[in-house]
Amino acid sequence: MKIKANREYIGEFQIPGDKSITHRAILFNGMAEGKAEISGALLGEDCLSSLSCMQKLGAKAEISGDTILLEGCKKFRSGQTLDCGNSGTTMRLMMGLLAGKHCAAVLTGDASLSKRPMERVAEPLRKLGAKIDTVEGHAPVSVFESDLTGRELDTAVASAQVKSALILAALGAEGETRIYEKLKTRDHTERLLRAMGADIKVEDNTVIIRKSSLHAVSVEVPGDISSAAYFMVLGALCGETLSKNVGINPTRTGIFTVFDRMGVNYTLENIRESGGEPVADVRVKKSRLKPLRLGAEDMPSLIDEVPVISVLCAFADGESVISGAEELKVKESDRIKTTAEMLCSAGVDVQAKSDGFIIRGGKKVRGGKICSYADHRIAMSGAVLLTASEQGGEIEGAECVNISFPGFFELLSREK
Ligand code: S3P
Repeated sequence: MKIKANREYIGEFQIPGDKSITHRAILFNGMAEGKAEISGALLGEDCLSSLSCMQKLGAKAEISGDTILLEGCKKFRSGQTLDCGNSGTTMRLMMGLLAGKHCAAVLTGDASLSKRPMERVAEPLRKLGAKIDTVEGHAPVSVFESDLTGRELDTAVASAQVKSALILAALGAEGETRIYEKLKTRDHTERLLRAMGADIKVEDNTVIIRKSSLHAVSVEVPGDISSAAYFMVLGALCGETLSKNVGINPTRTGIFTVFDRMGVNYTLENIRESGGEPVADVRVKKSRLKPLRLGAEDMPSLIDEVPVISVLCAFADGESVISGAEELKVKESDRIKTTAEMLCSAGVDVQAKSDGFIIRGGKKVRGGKICSYADHRIAMSGAVLLTASEQGGEIEGAECVNISFPGFFELLSREK
């Protein structure tokens, strides 16, 4: 995919549905009693993996435009092999969901997903009584029928996927389950399950769940702040952008902290509620950028945005340091390595560290050929980097954007 340099980029964008919320709307309604309409859904490959798993288990679905009509299935078909594709969220949440429904299945994934760690979910699920096998910590993951008992659990890594899997299992466990997380992660699971009638409470950093069954709830999915981030950063680097209908759930808005620290000129307009989540239009204007410091405590609220934040750092006046970001190594690619490669290929002065990067910004960014490493967020961050560069360039392996943002390149080139 060829990307033209354009330092005067002005555009207005309708942001596609939130990936995390679409996954949850599909998975939870798929196991609930009744019918739901999921509008503004993200129909990227990852969410379609969740949908096809639920259909295989017995849920019925129809897609019309960006709306999914879903009829849940209370008694799952046992013994299926479920393909989770590239989607970590599908595989990890399914582990908890199947355990909670006492349903046996085998979860498989593509080459990238089969390298990602699954014991972080399997191990705490076993503490609830689940019977789960991984292959040396990886997929294929086998879930067996078992009875679960609630108890107190600590999450060892700050991960909404792990927390959500445990919550889903706890819905089918006898008694009370308490899940403590040191750093708060995205809370879409807690919000949606409460709306669906689950007995779930949040006290500070602890989620308390009791055995519950769910009723279907229609969901209006807000735009994904992680997808909007590419256009917001373009505005800060090149001109002005307005990203419309962006979910601004406080557990997801770390990028605004970054904007504040770097001196980005942005405004939130038309703030409103949609489907139990706060939403706004985000206007970002070209700004003089200060270097950035980010640490471990910042990560949960912006983890998927780190590659595009690193692009912002490449244009800041001075040295930016991103640390405490080891989790990047176990994303769709090793994002410490692939983000550094992306920056380096375009001529940015970057040093990869074991837990992040040092980026010496403010120098000329030439442009060039960037490899996506089949990672959607690297492909899109690379496209932003090349748009803001001197010469532009090309993205190799650009088709992976379909994982989370089908139509990304068309939208990028439809600038006004
Ligand atoms: C997600 C949680 C995050 C994030 C991923 C989506 C979710 O992963 O990176 O893209 O929907 O719960 P971790 O839970 O591994 O941090």
